[in-house]
Amino acid sequence: MDFYAIEEIIRTKARSSLPLMDSMVSSLVKNGGKRIRPLILMVVFRGMNGKVGVLEQAYRSAASLELIHTATLIHDDLIDKSHIRRGIPTIYARHGIPSAVLAGDYLFVEAYALTAGLPVKLVDNCVGALRKMAEGQLLEETIPQNELDFKTYLDIISSKTAVLFKSACESGALLADSDQTQVDMLGCAGLSLGIAFQFIDDILDVLGNEKITGKPIGSDFLSGKMTLPYFLYQDSFGPLPHTRTQKTFQSILNKLTSDSVITRGKEMALSNTNKAKELFHILKNREIRTYLLNMCDQMLNRIL
Ligand code: IPE
Ligand code: IPE
Ligand code: MG
Ligand code: MG
Ligand code: MG
Repeated sequence: MDFYAIEEIIRTKARSSLPLMDSMVSSLVKNGGKRIRPLILMVVFRGMNGKVGVLEQAYRSAASLELIHTATLIHDDLIDKSHIRRGIPTIYARHGIPSAVLAGDYLFVEAYALTAGLPVKLVDNCVGALRKMAEGQLLEETIPQNELDFKTYLDIISSKTAVLFKSACESGALLADSDQTQVDMLGCAGLSLGIAFQFIDDILDVLGNEKITGKPIGSDFLSGKMTLPYFLYQDSFGPLPHTRTQKTFQSILNKLTSDSVITRGKEMALSNTNKAKELFHILKNREIRTYLLNMCDQMLNRIL
């Protein structure tokens, strides 16, 4: 029920009277996507006994988060020079750089438009998240390799990814009139879950099945990124190859998929997920709390 209402808003907003814009933005939205961020917002809202009278605002807020996420994916594929997303060619690959910049911008505008009329606290929260995301993506692109230690990597993924999960939780809690302590606890849960989510995404970039993830493996390595599996690789096996090619990726793949990398990576994802789950215990509605805790486990199951 919530899902269909939000989907309807997302699909209505991801449209344009200009045929090229319309086909770019609507094709990405129609081609799947897990819709995790709007789902988290709604589950927190419902779990904190949000009132029916606020439901419409919750839907708008959830749809807005998904449109922001989609816009960042379009720009991310351009930044990462990725050719496949959700199992189909990216907007960047199909239409080039100018079109991808503008399609992302277009969806950002639709997302802001949806927040008009929402309480100021929510708009502020969303804007704050967006600032951090842009900073995180920029830091990832521009930091000199010799300054990229594990702590900086954590800062990057907190900003580029986990902050939107935090915002989803805080928005759900704010809309449900939770007190500040609860909003902060749930925000903290969102942040931990978001970090676990990016850990999993980074592991799947090594271990994943393109048919399931809709993204080819090795793309982080090939685009020069340092992510969790590569930090763990370096701990156990020493420096990475200097040149990043398909050939050098294949040459380290055995070690990269060994227990000392993957098992440790999974443990780190698990411990962040567990931290989030502990905090999610403050959800008041028992049934919804159980649903959310299961959802956290399912997220982890993607790498099990
Ligand atoms: C991908 O997010 C980008 C990251 C933050 C890792 P998702 O894995 O949620 O992408 P979709 O929406 O399901 O395609
Ligand atoms: C996600 O990081 C960054 C965003 C916030 C969009 P990635 O670059 O790892 O995401 P994927 O793997 O391309 O989905
Ligand atoms: Mg990417
Ligand atoms: Mg990226
Ligand atoms: Mg990735």
